[in-house]
Amino acid sequence: MTTLEITLIVIGSVVGFNIVFFFLIWLFGRSYWKSIKERDPAARHYLQIILTYPGVHALIWYRIAHFFFKIHFKLLAEIITYLVRCHINIEIHPGAKIGKHFFIDHGTGVVIGETSIIGDNVTIYHGVTLGGHGTERGKRHPTVGNNVMIGAGATVLGNIVIGNNAKIGANATVLNDVPENATVIGVKGTIRDVF
Ligand SMILES: CC(C)(COP(=O)(O)OP(=O)(O)OC[C@H]1O[C@@H](n2cnc3c(N)ncnc32)[C@H](O)[C@@H]1OP(=O)(O)O)[C@@H](O)C(=O)NCCC(=O)NCCS
Repeated sequence: MTTLEITLIVIGSVVGFNIVFFFLIWLFGRSYWKSIKERDPAARHYLQIILTYPGVHALIWYRIAHFFFKIHFKLLAEIITYLVRCHINIEIHPGAKIGKHFFIDHGTGVVIGETSIIGDNVTIYHGVTLGGHGTERGKRHPTVGNNVMIGAGATVLGNIVIGNNAKIGANATVLNDVPENATVIGVKGTIRDVF
């Protein structure tokens, strides 16, 4: 390979990378990246966030999968979701509806079910489940309001509503509606049946 070819490849890669970089900044809007810096003290600059934040990668791929899901290319959407889950261990069903400025910090082990609805400016941490109780059909996953924070390992089950600005503590299990501005902690273990 000649020096000229190597130079062209290097320049091409740098230009290509910059195009992708600025495209992503434009696609999500500067306010999205700024909101992540505000929410995560470890975030230093946009390049670091774009290159190394699995929650951001999962969201980008979710937006693509959701588009295909909506136009009834459901299998393609599900394959994208599957590959993302294999790669970064975050599973957002392509049928879920997610608002602006959604941020998954760390991300490992996050599961978001098909009929979940998530508002704007929601932050969730690793290990969060927005799930159903079991075998129900129809709307069976939570509806999460705006500006909600869901702590690491929290499990939120069923067709319930988490009000705006609520905080769900790390490892909490939530089975009922949560009013606006409330903070929820703890896991209520109750014996229901003895066989
Ligand atoms: C629930 C939460 C939002 C409450 O924050 P806060 O309003 O600042 O509350 P405080 O830390 O002052 O704690 C208030 C009380 O709740 C308890 N508490 C706080 N978080 C709790 C939790 N997740 N589970 C059980 N109890 C908890 C505290 O021990 C304290 O109890 P006390 O009054 O008997 O001493 C926060 O503790 C939390 O869980 N955030 C999740 C953050 C997260 O997941 N980070 C992961 C980063 S990697």
